[in-house]
Amino acid sequence: MSPLHVTRTLPEDATDAALRADVLNGLTDSPKWLPPKWFYDARGSELFDEITELPEYYPTRAEREILVARSGEIAAASGARTLIELGSGSSEKTRYLIDALPLAAYVPVDVSESALTQAGQALVAERPDLDVHALIADFTAPLALPATPGPRLVAFLGGTIGNLLPAERTGFLTSVRSLLAPGDGLLLGTDLVKDERVLVRAYDDAAGVTAAFNKNVLAVVDRELGADFDPDAFDHVALWDAEREWIEMRLRSRTAQTVKVPALNLAVDFAAGEDLRTEVSAKFRKEGVTAELAAVGLDLTHWWTDAEGRFALSLSVAR
Ligand SMILES: C[S@@+](CC[C@H](N)C(=O)[O-])C[C@H]1O[C@@H](n2cnc3c(N)ncnc32)[C@H](O)[C@@H]1O
Repeated sequence: MSPLHVTRTLPEDATDAALRADVLNGLTDSPKWLPPKWFYDARGSELFDEITELPEYYPTRAEREILVARSGEIAAASGARTLIELGSGSSEKTRYLIDALPLAAYVPVDVSESALTQAGQALVAERPDLDVHALIADFTAPLALPATPGPRLVAFLGGTIGNLLPAERTGFLTSVRSLLAPGDGLLLGTDLVKDERVLVRAYDDAAGVTAAFNKNVLAVVDRELGADFDPDAFDHVALWDAEREWIEMRLRSRTAQTVKVPALNLAVDFAAGEDLRTEVSAKFRKEGVTAELAAVGLDLTHWWTDAEGRFALSLSVAR
């Protein structure tokens, strides 16, 4: 069995400069915000996997349906020998691609070390022929990829692209394009605009798993920066913004309170009912996705949806 190669480009210590800078910038801004990547410590990754099994959370099932039906076509169209997956998490749905593509190497990239190593170890045990190079890295920063054979296919699944703000998406897609040679591909999962009630339920489930996931970011800031956030002092909120066509997850302060963040020498005042935005999840339409890809030199060649038209997987090719 070939060993799992793990490369870390993030500092070992999660109290790194990036977390400090994000917490300082986000909690002193108005309105307050935190970036979603800090949800994903080991507990956050477990909670996300639980979310994917919830009856209300259709995106994972819809994207899996497309992958089951289309992996053969994706393999024929891309002929990829290296699959690079951004925000790979458990790599659960990726198995359909890994089985269909003529792969020599799989490069999962994630901030969550626990999710990456668990998924990577299971994969090397099952597929001893495959080189698995796991990268513990932030996909919004420039990536140094291992030298593996082309053609390359970059996969960005789960609708995670929706967590980037529109301005961040352009920079991100430009840097993805820079990883590709002409003829290489991008396989992009995008959740689609639909009935508001269906969308809100997907982010506010009856069992409260998404609420626990949302509040986990407070536990991360408490543990890593010595803060005294009380998760019970905040309510989980999911809202649809019809103008910007995105879901916002927020944490709403139940009372007026002051939270201390000793590592930053910071005291943060919350008014009763004040919101902290923790995630944006943009929903897409085909025209918008096609245009955003074209703007960075990626031509959309395939657009597949699930039978109910809830979620889309697109394949685009680098010019
Ligand atoms: C919404 S989950 C999707 C997981 C999986 N791709 C799926 O489709 O089920 C987002 C994943 O991206 C990872 N992630 C979030 N922000 C990231 C960042 N800036 N850099 C690298 N990974 C990130 C998280 O750890 C998590 O595994």
